[in-house]
Amino acid sequence: MQHRNLIENFVYSQSPEVIFSMSVLKGKKILLGISAGISAYKSLSLIRLFKKAGAEVKVLLTPPAEAFVGKLTPATLADSPVHSELFDASSGEWTNHVQLGLESDLMLIAPATASTLSKMASGQSDNLLLTTYLSARCPVWVAPAMDLDMWLHPATQRSISQLVRDGVRVIEPAEGELASGLVGKGRMEEPENLFRLVEDFFALPKPFSGKKVLITLGPTREALDPVRFISNHSTGKMGAEIAKCLLSMGADVHIVAGPVSSAILPSGAQVLHVESAIQMHEAAMQVFPNMDIAILCAAVADYRPAEVASQKIKKTGDEMEIRLVKNPDIAASLGASKKSGQFLLGFALETNNELENALSKLQRKNLDAIVLNSLQDPDAGFAVETNKITILSAAGGTFAYETKTKKEVAHDIAEFIQNAIA
Ligand code: CTP
Repeated sequence: MQHRNLIENFVYSQSPEVIFSMSVLKGKKILLGISAGISAYKSLSLIRLFKKAGAEVKVLLTPPAEAFVGKLTPATLADSPVHSELFDASSGEWTNHVQLGLESDLMLIAPATASTLSKMASGQSDNLLLTTYLSARCPVWVAPAMDLDMWLHPATQRSISQLVRDGVRVIEPAEGELASGLVGKGRMEEPENLFRLVEDFFALPKPFSGKKVLITLGPTREALDPVRFISNHSTGKMGAEIAKCLLSMGADVHIVAGPVSSAILPSGAQVLHVESAIQMHEAAMQVFPNMDIAILCAAVADYRPAEVASQKIKKTGDEMEIRLVKNPDIAASLGASKKSGQFLLGFALETNNELENALSKLQRKNLDAIVLNSLQDPDAGFAVETNKITILSAAGGTFAYETKTKKEVAHDIAEFIQNAIA
């Protein structure tokens, strides 16, 4: 087919450095959604890259995206009809978006415009691409593209945060020259890079596929009055690294996060944000019954002020006392409600009698394993990039690891759980 060869030659010549590995994407069903941005032309290269790697590609356009790329070129490259409407007005034929959503291995929307992101975040379904997104059971990724001020606008950032909470993976736009002539963040990630991310995703072993994991992380804040609270130095980084690692290994990750920087939280996880130990307890207890695994990384305040003043507490005498009452122990509550087949892993940060204290917590809280890090060790603890852990297993065994980065430690913990539940 002359026409097709011309398009192939054009598009393929844009990305000569990509080396195809047939095995990873071969037979994978990729649903590519294209919304109406200038960078839609780059998605044509992406179709070609996927096809060359052996994937089956189906393309959906938002109706205005048709003005940018038309249907003929993507359909020719994908070797499959391209749709943009729920109904074909002339034939009355219905496009089965439910089937498309069910049968795909990955849905990638590239470029994802501010409008499409906003509609996805609010659950609108007024075109085929959006309806398909709502019925997709496969992982959904978006590669946003827009002008830099549109990207930075709080409304767009709200959509992004919501989509991340809904489990969508956001491939952040790159910096560079934009269609408007301005320079900044907003360019759609290059097709070769998107292709590699997809390839990496399918290349990874997925030992946690089908497993639901709850992770508590971060500190809690225990209010004294409307402006003050008691808290600790936890940053949530260890829990976030574990979440990232498990997501890459195929787990369905649910995070209950105390107040931490949202930049550390991985895209693709469902996140519930809480402040206090009581809120974290309630959220974790609600989520836990449907989970296979719970990993309790949060540094939960053991006590909270007995009274929370409704007005700011005024300075009076030279001394003041705050009466504290005990907070619920989340790990112990989950341990008490644990059903057969559920795996519970806690952490212990100790300064003395480390092994003895960790073992006592393991038993007292009915955990299956506990990860000990000692504050005597300068490479472990809060706000450092490394950690040195020892894992104690309820099934017997103590496993000591070298000092490693938190990312490597996360991998060790994931591997430990993988073996323990095998
Ligand atoms: N933990 C929890 N809820 C609490 C306190 C602790 O879920 N209210 C969890 C932590 O997330 C961790 C484990 O229990 O996984 C051990 O936390 P740690 O603070 O070391 O234990 P405590 O029981 O609070 O003991 P102590 O502070 O006396 O050392």
